[in-house]
Amino acid sequence: TPSSPGHDDGDVDPDQRPKTLGACRRCRLWRNATQAVGGEGKRHAPIMLVGEQPGDKEDLAGHPFVGPAGALLDKALAQAGVSRDAVYITNAVKHFKWELRGKRRMHKSPAQAEIHACEYWLDQELDDVQPRVIIALGATALSALMRDRKHTLKASLGKTLERGDSCVLAAYHPSFALRSPNRESREAAFQTIVAALKRARGLID
Ligand code: URA
Repeated sequence: TPSSPGHDDGDVDPDQRPKTLGACRRCRLWRNATQAVGGEGKRHAPIMLVGEQPGDKEDLAGHPFVGPAGALLDKALAQAGVSRDAVYITNAVKHFKWELRGKRRMHKSPAQAEIHACEYWLDQELDDVQPRVIIALGATALSALMRDRKHTLKASLGKTLERGDSCVLAAYHPSFALRSPNRESREAAFQTIVAALKRARGLID
């Protein structure tokens, strides 16, 4: 249930090192989320896809990219000839951040401090999976991965960035490709995802 304004944050501890996602109190987003949504996929998948945060559907289901953005991502994977089994899919932030508008839980962008708090989990996933290629879906993922503000999304499109032993490719977020106001920009955004997936294929074989 949503917490009321003015509650105390005594149980939030940015230095906590929790063992499980469900116990995470590194930021306050857990309070209004149904559950934390971790990444899914093969342990040593060669490609890791990183989104922003779970959406409404993901928050309820407990799995990443199972809602409308996930359907578009599946379409991009199919166009690029990459199977969903070959990729590990996660998000920069593991809890759904939202505000009520009418009866709908509307997505809210995570704050920098929330992205930073959740890097604790992303780092563990990167250590476990050790992907050859990481695709940042949107600016939040790119900033969580590159840890700086100099890699803007637009300037990073089409480039191969380095992060340790992995390559990082940037693409627009599938939700942007769904919601952008005109058809051409939706298609262009979608094609950045397909292009990154194709480029990733080239880098892994
Ligand atoms: N958008 C994301 O960034 N991640 C999801 O899991 C769903 C929608």
